Formats: sequence, C-alpha cells, structure tokens
Amino acid sequence: MPEPQPGPGEIRIRIIAAGVNPMDWKIRSGYIRELPLPTIMGLDVAGLVDAVGQGETSFQRGDQVFAKVSIGQGGYAEYTVVNPAQVAQKPRSIGFIESAAIPTAGLAAWQSLFDIAGLERGQSVLIHGAAGGVGTLAVQFARWKGAYVIGTASSKNAEFLKSIGSDEVIDYRNQRFEEIVSNLDVVLDTIGGDTFERSWGVLKPGGFLVSTVASIPEGVPQKYGVRAKTLMTQADGRELTQIAAIIDEQKIKPIVTTVLPLIEAQKAHEMSESRHARGKIVLRVAEDPK
Ligand SMILES: NC(=O)c1ccc[n+]([C@@H]2O[C@H](COP(=O)([O-])OP(=O)(O)OC[C@H]3O[C@@H](n4cnc5c(N)ncnc54)[C@H](OP(=O)(O)O)[C@@H]3O)[C@@H](O)[C@H]2O)c1
Repeated sequence: MPEPQPGPGEIRIRIIAAGVNPMDWKIRSGYIRELPLPTIMGLDVAGLVDAVGQGETSFQRGDQVFAKVSIGQGGYAEYTVVNPAQVAQKPRSIGFIESAAIPTAGLAAWQSLFDIAGLERGQSVLIHGAAGGVGTLAVQFARWKGAYVIGTASSKNAEFLKSIGSDEVIDYRNQRFEEIVSNLDVVLDTIGGDTFERSWGVLKPGGFLVSTVASIPEGVPQKYGVRAKTLMTQADGRELTQIAAIIDEQKIKPIVTTVLPLIEAQKAHEMSESRHARGKIVLRVAEDPK
C-alpha cells in the first residue's frame, strides 16, 4: 500500500502496536457488508505522530499517542492517517503495547457505564464477559467509580477478576446469574443471546441494560420498567485522555495477556475467535523506539 499522507487538519501515526478486537475477525469473516476493499484491519493503535497536516496544532511530531481508528483506516500497518479528535497522548506510565490494548475496549466500557447508563458511586453493576477485553476494563472503571461490581466468567477467571475489582464473580457455566442477583442498577452485556435475554429481570425499576452486541427488542424495556441501549462505540480523544489520566494515577491497568508480532495476526485472530481470551491480545508492529 502507498504510504498515507496526512491532509489538512490530519495527523499520521507511525504504529508501534495494534490492539486486536473481536470486530477484527468479524470484519475478516465478511460480517461488514459495506467494507471498502482492499481494507486494512485493526481499530486500535499506539505509536508516534510522525507527520502533521497543514493547520493541525494539537499534536506535534514525536508525540506518543494512542487512538481508536475507523474501520478500514488500519491498525495492522506501519502508518495510519487520522483525525486528531480520535487521538490522545498515551498514558505516560505504560508502554505502547499496553496503550494499544485500551482504545476500543476502554471506550466501549467507559461509554456503556458512564455516558449511557450513568453509573454512579454506590450503585450496583453486573458485567457479563468480565474477563474479556471490554469486561476487564469495565470491572476496573466501575470499581474506580465506587460501584458494587459483579462479573460473570468461568471459574478459572474468578480469582483474577476479584484481584482487579470484582466484588462477586458468578461462574456462568455452573450458576444462573438471575437466581443470584436482583434489583441491580446497571447490566453491561458483552455476550448477547440467552445471557442478554435473561438480564432484563435482574434490573431494578428504572435500571439500565447496555449491550455491546444485542439489539434492543421493541417494547421489552417498557415491559420491565427499565431502560436499554445497544452500544456503538465512538472514537473520542477526550475520553481517551481521561482514561490515560486514571491509568497514570495507577487506579486501573490494561490487562494484556498475549503479545504477538504482526506476522502472527492469524494466530491472534484464532485466539480472539475462541471467545475465551482473557483481557487483550496485542500485535507488535514495530520495535519500541526507546
Ligand atoms: N458495540 C460496540 O461498539 C462494541 C465495542 C467493543 C466490543 N464489542 C463487542 O463486544 C463483545 C465483547 O468484546 P470483548 O473485546 O470483550 O471480547 P473478548 O475479549 O473476546 O471476550 C472474551 C471473554 O468472554 C468471556 N465469555 C465467553 N462466553 C461467556 C459467557 N457466556 N458469559 C460470560 N463470559 C463469557 C470469556 O471468559 P471465560 O473464558 O471465563 O469464558 C472471555 O474472557 C464482542 O462481540 C465485540 O465485538 C462491541
């Protein structure tokens, strides 16, 4: 592919690391019909600003940044050109690999819990898929906010989830969460299907069900007296800046369990497609400049 050049008001990032998300293998498998082809996969990047378009003043060459990029803009590449509004200075206390684990999963968790559901201190939240990319950050954000956090995961992840801030962990393979919890303020569903459908009844009146995967069936929230929304994660540099600050305060940390070179992207997809990866998988695109 030709080296992309930033237009007026754009910046070019030299990518050091690219986060892997389930959306990547969904795109690769052909789920997105309107995808421009050929396309470059990857939604999350961390790297260095290496060229700045005319009129752009918020970033300079050499800035160490992270960003959620749009579908087709390409994290699995040496360079990407982005709108600076999508970009933030990466957390100072962590490297490029860990920074690349944050954008999509972090923004999904942040926007679900705070922008959509309005989770507050003292409220209760059930997080389905707590050991995944979105879940491990959602658990930590909710705990940081001062909420009571319940996560669902298989038993092998129970102790790990308690160590990052889950007050309770429900083993979804052997327990039915709706028989254990009730009257909750918020449910964050990252699983869908039967898990989503069984979640309505555990909310208190006025509670909020946010799903990253399921559409909200018409009339059902009204039937249960609750609110509901399907997340569409927005790229947002300001929110990434807020997340970076909390990371630098050592309040939360991205959980990266696998780092692979870009050439092993296929293996990374196979791991993600298993739907049982813990935390995040990150591709190393270039050597860390330090
Ligand atoms: N709408 C949006 O804007 C948006 C944004 C981000 C993500 N998403 C979607 O949200 C979903 C989750 O993303 P992710 O990055 O967190 O995925 P992920 O990292 O691949 O999630 C894997 C985790 O799911 C857990 N899991 C699997 N089946 C489960 C079940 N039945 N109950 C509870 N936990 C279960 C696994 O835990 P165990 O190994 O313990 O089973 C594993 O840790 C994906 O479908 C993704 O495409 C949507």
